[in-house]
Amino acid sequence: MPNIVIVGVQWGDEGKGKIVDLLTKDADVVARYQGGHNAGHTVVIDNEQFILHLIPSGILQKGKICIIGNGMVVDPAALIEEMDSLKKRGISFDGNFFISKNAHVIMPYHKAIEKESERFKGSKRIGTTGRGIGPAYVDKIARIGIRMGDLLQQEVFKEKLETNLSDINYLLTNLYGVSGFETEQIYSEYMRYAERIAIYIANTASLLNRYMDEGKNVLFEGAQGTHLDIDHGTYPFVTASNATAGGACTGLGIGPTRIDEVIGVMKAYTTRVGSGPFPTEMKDEMGEEIRNKGKEYGASTGRPRRCGWFDSVVSRYSAMINTLSGLAITKLDILDGCEKINICVGYRYKGKIYEEVPSELNVLEGCEPVYEVVDGWCESTVGIKRYENLPVNAKNYINKIATLTGARVDIISTGQKRDEVIIRRNPFLSL
Ligand code: IMO
Ligand code: MG
Repeated sequence: MPNIVIVGVQWGDEGKGKIVDLLTKDADVVARYQGGHNAGHTVVIDNEQFILHLIPSGILQKGKICIIGNGMVVDPAALIEEMDSLKKRGISFDGNFFISKNAHVIMPYHKAIEKESERFKGSKRIGTTGRGIGPAYVDKIARIGIRMGDLLQQEVFKEKLETNLSDINYLLTNLYGVSGFETEQIYSEYMRYAERIAIYIANTASLLNRYMDEGKNVLFEGAQGTHLDIDHGTYPFVTASNATAGGACTGLGIGPTRIDEVIGVMKAYTTRVGSGPFPTEMKDEMGEEIRNKGKEYGASTGRPRRCGWFDSVVSRYSAMINTLSGLAITKLDILDGCEKINICVGYRYKGKIYEEVPSELNVLEGCEPVYEVVDGWCESTVGIKRYENLPVNAKNYINKIATLTGARVDIISTGQKRDEVIIRRNPFLSL
């Protein structure tokens, strides 16, 4: 019966993949509600690493139903590539995988527009993943988007494509000075993709609501993080979708009363990829050390992640926006051996203390973190499975995070592997 949302608390890459994989054991259905292949969800099973971009991480466990929701944007070429590589590794897509008819399709011109628009922005660029995510959502809102269901109707698809290209080619050639696209070429390429994926395209809102009526447990997998959310994040340095828990409703077609719990995933420190404000960023050797130890390089783009201290202003704001019922803290082990740990308890800007993330970009950019310094621990926490076995200072740190965030800590990850985890409360089993 329980239906649980997994959401990123920080700026993405919090370890949602591992937590989704862990909770999938007790779920029947895993559904993703927003974003596209800008996401990179890493799961390690028996020393084998899987990186999921579009497909819900639940696919790695046999017999689970996986859904790509209407709130997502899908690049069919990327999807087919991901499916093929998973199939080669023994993952099956037989009758357990569905793509919403209403999910929007990423077209080659979306990537081209994004590339040029980032180039035009120069030093003000967002530092996007370059996957065409933003422009695909622009078309959705502009009501000229092409949806997965359109791929099933050749004539409709062709007409929409032709209409769009007449505008887009004008933009590409006359504003950006690059070449445009040919209708026929895209049409035949996308019809080939359609042949491959047509059998998975369905009305997933109806399917999902039926599963819930039957009493199945559903896990809603969020991508990115709260502070990359288009409405609640550090705008304009955000992604183009609602990564917050509310996105699960609109991005899948379910009512808010269907959701029982929201688990926020956060690292024991903070990372961010791409541009944008990051008050607790470490621009020193410590930042470099964490990047190396935590292997903080983008799972999608390979870019080095910016690393920083835990920021309770960020996590408290996320707890509020998502009404978090619990926290999953990942990568605690990366802080092993760290003599002193900084905890950001507020921001200072022009002599004023902020306990909430200011929504004005210029204010946030000028904020200095206010730190409380706590003692670290020298023991290794790698692979610890029982809370009692954590070093006392690690427990103190976890409790501090819980108090400052205002949420209970349910799960603590102590390594990359599936079983390197402390589960204090399994939300599926305690509801
Ligand atoms: P997961 O699901 C971290 C960032 C990009 C950029 C901004 C906008 O693995 O947590 P976009 O291509 O989405 O228009 O880029 O958002 N970004 C992510 N950062 N984790 C992600 O996903 C991200 N997806 C997008 O780096 O700053
Ligand atoms: Mg990631």
